[in-house]
Amino acid sequence: MASSKLAVIVLAAGMGTRMKSSLPKVMHPLAGRPMVSHLLDTVSGLSPDRMVVVVGPDMEVVSKTVAPHPTVIQADRLGTGHAVLQAKAALGQFDGDVLVLYGDTPLITRATLERMLAERRGPRDPAVVVLGFKPEDPGHYGRLVVGAEGLKAIVEYRDATPEQRENPLCNSGVMAIDGNRLWSLIERVDNRNSKGEYYLTDIVALARADGATCSHVEGDPAELLGVNSRSELAVAESLIQARLREAAMEGGATLIDPATVWLSWDTRIGRDVTVWPHVVFGPGVVVGDKVEIKGFCHFEGCTIEDGVLAGPFARLRPGAEIGANAHIGNFVEVKKATIEAGAKVNHLTYIGDARVGAGANVGAGTITCNYDGFNKSFTDIGAGAFIGSNTSLVAPVKIGDGAVVGAGSVITKEVTEGALAVARGSQMELKGWAERFRAQQAAKKAKKD
Ligand code: UD1
Ligand code: CA
Repeated sequence: MASSKLAVIVLAAGMGTRMKSSLPKVMHPLAGRPMVSHLLDTVSGLSPDRMVVVVGPDMEVVSKTVAPHPTVIQADRLGTGHAVLQAKAALGQFDGDVLVLYGDTPLITRATLERMLAERRGPRDPAVVVLGFKPEDPGHYGRLVVGAEGLKAIVEYRDATPEQRENPLCNSGVMAIDGNRLWSLIERVDNRNSKGEYYLTDIVALARADGATCSHVEGDPAELLGVNSRSELAVAESLIQARLREAAMEGGATLIDPATVWLSWDTRIGRDVTVWPHVVFGPGVVVGDKVEIKGFCHFEGCTIEDGVLAGPFARLRPGAEIGANAHIGNFVEVKKATIEAGAKVNHLTYIGDARVGAGANVGAGTITCNYDGFNKSFTDIGAGAFIGSNTSLVAPVKIGDGAVVGAGSVITKEVTEGALAVARGSQMELKGWAERFRAQQAAKKAKKD
């Protein structure tokens, strides 16, 4: 009887030559985090008993990313079959099911993996279950050769006959294998093929030669794209974006033009939120309910509470916390600052390393001068304060609750609660000066001509 124990091997040793990158392929991000992290998250949902990631030499960055899951190093990249073999010692004696996943196929869903496991544990007791799919463009994927008694073999595109290449049923790379039979199959894989590689895919024909059954499950092409180039990375990004947008809308957000809204894997958006076109949600953004986000905003690492009105053209950087019903208007940048409930920062402003108290109003063109070239300093604006337009707040500085700062001020000292502070050149006036000036200049010019 098949046991229900599960081990997962993720292959990620390829550098991804076609990416033309110094970054290992599986580290390229989709929706703001590495491909391999998406895959590990999905797999974690299956609560595997063991999980091993096969990486190449000099891929500490991958090992760090997948930690605490262990990695094994495949010193020479001799093919997918050879890569799986590298995980043997790490898995040890394991008689459950083994799922093999490719790090460059990151969009697969848990439901699909569960279907594969169900087939593997089903009455046919197949030695190997392969996840097949029919992509719009079958390109260079391996092809599944299926006969009356189930899956017979996988042929790599390079090794396939013209008729085999006509077959639309492709190999996604994902396999569920009986752990009791895996190593005896893998150890018999050779490299007599056009690439001179040890193909994992050969275990199907080997299992059949042993008299075992193999089978396949068909999956959704939108989950099974393999990323080998930057152009495929872009396709994968668009697929993951479509999913994230769908989830946001299902959660009660209106995306007026969904295709123009870019989301991160961890973006959280509440209900009755309206997002106008061209908005970017970088990693770490949490949006409450009844928020309106006008066009062309850029957010990352920030929290936006209920009822906020943001944009158009607002930029919220890491550590920005926008309190309930606050307004953040056009060309306003907020970094590591709390804008408390109901405060308004509506135009052309930079608020960094600061607190803007509840109900305060920050006039157009106000700047917190938070950096002196060496250190960052804090600006504290009290509740209900009014900062006149074009004010420079030279941090560290504190504006008391309810204080008023005159427009154009350069504030370098504390303003006490309820006070008016004006710090600018005072205005002078010379009566009739303009008329005298013009007459003088006109006379000079006439003399010259
Ligand atoms: C592989 C399959 C092909 C399938 C396609 C699906 C084989 C022989 N071919 O082809 O049938 O249609 O995926 O996307 O398996 N890797 C290692 N070590 C190696 C070689 C590869 O870890 O020595 C890893 C890569 O990092 C990658 C994955 O295995 O994550 C697949 O390798 P890749 O070279 O991209 O295989 P394909 O040619 O795409
Ligand atoms: Ca590939």
